[in-house]
Amino acid sequence: MTRTGWALALLLGSAAMAGAQQAADAVAPEGASGEAIATDVFGDLDAPARDALATKAEGRPVTAADWMVTAAHPLAVQAGARVLEQGGSAADAMVAVQAVLGLVEPQSSGLGGGAFLVWYHAETGEVTTLDGRETAPMAATPTLFQDEEGEPLAFMEAVIGGRSVGTPGTPRLMEVAHRNWGQANWSGLFDDAIALARDGFTVSPRLAALVAGEGDALSRYPATAAYFFPDSQPVAEGSLLTNPAYAETLRLLAREGADGFYTGPVAEQITAAVRGAEDNPGLLALADLSAYRVIERPAVCVDYRDHDVCGMGPPSSGGLTVGQILGMLGGYDLAEMGAESADAWRLIGDASRLAFADRGRFMADSDFVAMPTEGLIDPAYLEERGQLLQGDDSLPKVSAGSPGWSHARLWGQDSALELPSTSHISIVDAEGNALSMTTTIENGFGSRVMAAGFLLNNELTDFSFETHDDAGWPIANALAPGKRPRSSMAPTIVLQDGAPAMVIGSPGGSRIIGYVARAIVAHLDWGMDIQAAVAAPNLVNRFGPMDIEAGLPAALTEGLAAMGFELNETELTSGLQGIVVTPDGLEGGADPRREGIAIGG
Ligand code: DON
Repeated sequence: MTRTGWALALLLGSAAMAGAQQAADAVAPEGASGEAIATDVFGDLDAPARDALATKAEGRPVTAADWMVTAAHPLAVQAGARVLEQGGSAADAMVAVQAVLGLVEPQSSGLGGGAFLVWYHAETGEVTTLDGRETAPMAATPTLFQDEEGEPLAFMEAVIGGRSVGTPGTPRLMEVAHRNWGQANWSGLFDDAIALARDGFTVSPRLAALVAGEGDALSRYPATAAYFFPDSQPVAEGSLLTNPAYAETLRLLAREGADGFYTGPVAEQITAAVRGAEDNPGLLALADLSAYRVIERPAVCVDYRDHDVCGMGPPSSGGLTVGQILGMLGGYDLAEMGAESADAWRLIGDASRLAFADRGRFMADSDFVAMPTEGLIDPAYLEERGQLLQGDDSLPKVSAGSPGWSHARLWGQDSALELPSTSHISIVDAEGNALSMTTTIENGFGSRVMAAGFLLNNELTDFSFETHDDAGWPIANALAPGKRPRSSMAPTIVLQDGAPAMVIGSPGGSRIIGYVARAIVAHLDWGMDIQAAVAAPNLVNRFGPMDIEAGLPAALTEGLAAMGFELNETELTSGLQGIVVTPDGLEGGADPRREGIAIGG
């Protein structure tokens, strides 16, 4: 089988492959269960969205001449496409996409969460980033996630309730992006989301399955239970769900800008919900909300195959760790080895282990702790680390390296956990601006605390629960008031000769790093188009066993096992949303593991 055929057969699954042969506009790619689903499960989609679903089911990229938007839900992509079609910028479209995502995919991202955005500005050729990460409340202490004996809390015990809620960053980030790069009228960007919240949207298969799977956790708080369990039953696939409280919050945001969120009635509802969360109240105060700032930061860029791979620096580990992996692989001919080669995946797997060793030791919010940011992606350092990969077998032992830095300080090994939710948005507009944004409320359904029509994040559990490692070294990613928890989100823009060649990103907790790195390799080294690249198999190594998806060729898994990798077959639900720029125009791709699509024009 060809590599594209292999990727398709493996990842679309036989149901979706069969679906692709049916009437084009009747079939969408698989839902949460991996089965082909009809387009009407997303409600009232316009023709481009229906076409996009059919194209995805066929495993082809969507093509267009001028602009492209790809995100995790057809209704959100449709809203972004309308903005772009009317001449809006990528920043304008992002606002519309995010406003709808917060309604139709509430478990993953929204106003109650945070985001990182990478922006390529066509006029200047510059790449910059916006840090809309949540902050720890001013009243929080480093032992917030420890019990009275100083032992770390069980993860979900920390997640559910007000304690884990950081100051949301997404609403301010939407405003700053629009102020910097928007062209459309701000208030009009919320029209689609307000109409859907007021009139109701169709509950998708994925949302229904996730609510049903949540059980008790989601019914612990009355406002959350009332929304997701109307009449004490989980919201059903295909049912119409209205969210008048969200419509009202959006109206305020549309009218007053982000101040309408960070002060006044919405801010009061948020702090009341957090501080009043029964059994596990939090510390978020009105002063935390009104003091929140989005920070513009330089992008972190590394050279790979004559491209510049630019991503998000601290407090995300995403850009640095993706950059380290690719930087270490630069000296190896992955194209020659091919996508099914155990040698290629040994190199990618061990490069990831080496990068994760550095990540665990050195990466955190660099506004609070000294961090060797430049040293970690110094080409000489990466070449030296890359030489460790020269053998034939998996590395027996991997530890953090010694990157060069100006503030010598040793940090202990971190143990923070991250579990599935999150969403990614990629956009290129008609002027050639590009936007890559990963947006999250952290866990699926975040803290499970709801206020003003949206779920609040549990981002503070991205901090290390311990302040020191076993050897007594302080942990860089320990909690401090005002600090931003380390992230793995890796929104990325790949440039060639200074212009965007690829816009990519994914959800997936710390696996995001592996998903994004391998999608870039799939496109640049293995020549896959963007749909094949996002659909290609996930093999991810964070520091321990090699996580793999089911159905890989036996030669690959046997080869990796013989090299000494411990293989762990598991679900690897990436949500890669990508755009590539080809000589013929734009191509968009959406991960078949989730419900997203790409629409272009
Ligand atoms: O910032 C982070 O890295 C995590 N809070 C993101 C969470 C996530 O992607 C969960 N994914 N499926």
